[in-house]
Amino acid sequence: MHHFRHIGQNLHCESVDLAEVARLHGTPTYVYSAATMAGNYTRLARGLGGLDAQVCYAMKANSSLAVLRHFANLGAAFDLVSGGEIRRVLAAGADVRRSVFAGVGKTEAEIALALEHGVFSFHVESEPELARLNHVAGRLGVKAPVAIRVNPDVDAHTHAKITTGKSDNKFGVPLARAAAAYAAAAKLPHVSVKGVQMHIGSQLTSVAPFVEAVEKVAPFVARLKAEFGIAYFSVGGGIGIVYQDALASGAQEWWDAQPSDKRPITPEAYGAALVPLLKPLGLKILLEPGRFLVGNAGVLLTRVEHLKRGEGKNFLIVDAAMNDLVRPAMYDSYHEIVPLHRDTTRAALTADVVGPVCESGDCFAHGRQLQEAGEGEYLALMSAGAYGAAMASRYNTRPLPAEVMVSGGAFELVNARETFEQMTANEKVPAFLK
Ligand code: LLP
Repeated sequence: MHHFRHIGQNLHCESVDLAEVARLHGTPTYVYSAATMAGNYTRLARGLGGLDAQVCYAMKANSSLAVLRHFANLGAAFDLVSGGEIRRVLAAGADVRRSVFAGVGKTEAEIALALEHGVFSFHVESEPELARLNHVAGRLGVKAPVAIRVNPDVDAHTHAKITTGKSDNKFGVPLARAAAAYAAAAKLPHVSVKGVQMHIGSQLTSVAPFVEAVEKVAPFVARLKAEFGIAYFSVGGGIGIVYQDALASGAQEWWDAQPSDKRPITPEAYGAALVPLLKPLGLKILLEPGRFLVGNAGVLLTRVEHLKRGEGKNFLIVDAAMNDLVRPAMYDSYHEIVPLHRDTTRAALTADVVGPVCESGDCFAHGRQLQEAGEGEYLALMSAGAYGAAMASRYNTRPLPAEVMVSGGAFELVNARETFEQMTANEKVPAFLK
């Protein structure tokens, strides 16, 4: 469910007419719905009812300071993956003491920063990382709290680039080797064993792989509890969202109309399947959702530059590009494209929706059926709240896009579009070229 819908002919985010946002702040601009984020968070927290659960928002999905502050206010902690993310949480006025620090290559400086700010736990990806943690913690005269990421070798049935729980992925320690890794960790003087972690992949559309992974790892977790008195089990993130019918899926009726065997994953179904497996462990349960919390809460507004009629093919050229939203180019991902002004009297148009960047890969949709659109009209790329702005780049010397947050009838710019001066501020021509 989300808060994007046409009121009359115009697409609104909550009570805000998105065309007004586009006119005021220009395009390409990301727009986030605070109510949708809060609704997603609350449903997930409720779905885990009965567990001692802590949601650690995987902020890599969207690390805008406004988004972080919103989730902190709702009670979330964070799943962090860099020193930069630690600093962002602090800059958002939140604290990292309930947050976890993941990633396969944490540097000594990042580890020290996390320890200085009292991070809840490190999610350790390898045996050499344990040694590094022990070394840095020893230097600072503290103990590093750790959970080892176990790789359960489960197929998440998702895109190859975002599947992480197979034995041939770079992540975690294989289950068969994990007992030895824990035994080694327990012997390190500056490490304290606190939990277990796993994460099998992203954009999972059914609960079955989650169930398989929890069933596979739970006996090991119970053993660690008995042996080392661990306090928590993090089951990672990965809950998928609806991309194909993004706009329609804002309404409960859409969900009610889905056949039960085809219904995409919901937080209620996720909770119903996992709570009975997790509760008997008697541990704190951590969850690291990213996409589920923010994906359907954001859209990318763009303006049509030209409709170019080609030989047997039309190109709708828009002002957003792969640098603003790289997911279609990178993962062949689908984003629904919706006109801000819906007009059912218009002719239909089949077109490739493309950006202005000089690459054929700069294409948001191939042969998409749309309402006919011309220069100056606005479109929304739906389900762009996760891994959208967070993955944007300056390719083609295009500025990072602006970001706006909506709450009810109010909206505010939460990240201004970059200027050329900001883009080039750190660059210089070396003396030997002058
Ligand atoms: N925990 C860990 C250890 C992760 O690696 C990730 C995501 C998450 C949690 C959050 O997963 P989520 O709930 O968002 O599925 N850029 C890609 C997705 C990359 C996911 C990376 N890891 C995309 O645009 O689809």
